[in-house]
Amino acid sequence: EPTVVRTVAELRRLRQGTGRTALVPTMGALHAGHRNLIATAREHADTVLVSVFVNPLQFGPNEDYDRYPRDLDTDLAVCAEEGVDVVFAPSVAEMYPEEQIVTLDAGRMGKVLEGATRPGFFEGVLTVVSKLFHLVTPDVAVFGQKDAQQLAIVRRMTRDLAMPVTVVGAATVRENDGLATASRNVYLTERERASALALSRALLAGADASVTGPVGIRDAARRVLDEAAAGEPPVVLDYLALVDAHTFTEVPDDYRGESVLSVAAWVGTTRLIDNVPLTL
Ligand code: PAJ
Repeated sequence: EPTVVRTVAELRRLRQGTGRTALVPTMGALHAGHRNLIATAREHADTVLVSVFVNPLQFGPNEDYDRYPRDLDTDLAVCAEEGVDVVFAPSVAEMYPEEQIVTLDAGRMGKVLEGATRPGFFEGVLTVVSKLFHLVTPDVAVFGQKDAQQLAIVRRMTRDLAMPVTVVGAATVRENDGLATASRNVYLTERERASALALSRALLAGADASVTGPVGIRDAARRVLDEAAAGEPPVVLDYLALVDAHTFTEVPDDYRGESVLSVAAWVGTTRLIDNVPLTL
């Protein structure tokens, strides 16, 4: 059974002498993707600490903060199964006892793709992640490739601000049919879920076309999404982008190096994201 910590004071006390520690930041509603992060964390540390906190700072006014799934008992059971040592599950008042005046800005990396559609999102993410880093003082922090832009920005934050934390990425976990596992998948009806498969199929089509370069990759993925846009229920595209994996800027047609083919779309009222890393 993991030790459950609800306050900053308890956390600070407990952190004395826990040895090499890996932090896995989450918003709870733990699933197979989070389990993969925990397993990866275990490879890097003696103590694995999972934080469970639905961070109000990263939700827009019209987003799902109120209906975001919350079930700490189930999360604790998952953590026990995965051999997690400590769960830090603070209240909002504990994390934000007063107005958070000072925040972090991701700069231009935070203004494209997810940041363009969700203003303030990465500011909220970086602010809570850096706060967690100061509270937990981990040696390693594990983030999922599922949120590729978040992973890249957090990694960049640790470099630009000289934070003594090694950021480790863990591969995206998928359902048997290819849908990326996500806490928000519970919002989907059966028919919406079937339509949602177009995201992973589009990425697969793009990956299959990778030898043809950026133009061919984008075209192949777009064909799948165009078809899904006419489906029932329709997949409403937010963006499809092929970006430099380090800066998240759109790659030129003759690009060589690490890239990410990234997609975001609405199915009904649910917004889904997915991506695949491609070496060009
Ligand atoms: P959350 O959505 O709970 O995700 C927590 C971590 O799990 C993130 O690093 C995310 O990339 C990873 N993850 C989610 N689904 C995954 C999947 N299918 N495969 C692999 N990893 C997956 O991301 C957040 O919370 C928040 O923004 C947070 C970083 C905790 C800051 O509040």
